[in-house]
Amino acid sequence: MSVVYNLGLATRVPLGEGMTFIVGGRTVAVFRTRGGTFFATQAECPHQRGPLADGLLGGNVLVCPLHGYKFDVKTGLAMGHACGSLKTYPVELSDRGELLLQVEDS
Ligand code: FES
Repeated sequence: MSVVYNLGLATRVPLGEGMTFIVGGRTVAVFRTRGGTFFATQAECPHQRGPLADGLLGGNVLVCPLHGYKFDVKTGLAMGHACGSLKTYPVELSDRGELLLQVEDS
């Protein structure tokens, strides 16, 4: 079963950046591309737990702030390295412009 969390107004996340949220006992990074699309992934890099929300975001490509490993924030797939993919979470906007994040019940 999955649970939907309301993270508040989407404008909290600046364009082209990420923000970390704690939901249901886990940390999730929500990203807003410069094109205005939202994606959500696990908050810690699978390499050495770098804070992914602080990484550089160019289009759908996220660069980890610690060692520069790249990931596709849309699919979570690792790009050019074998460190593993990111867990991704469905995120959408409510009619009132709030972020609705869906996670599996644990
Ligand atoms: S911790 Fe992310 S690339 Fe090393």
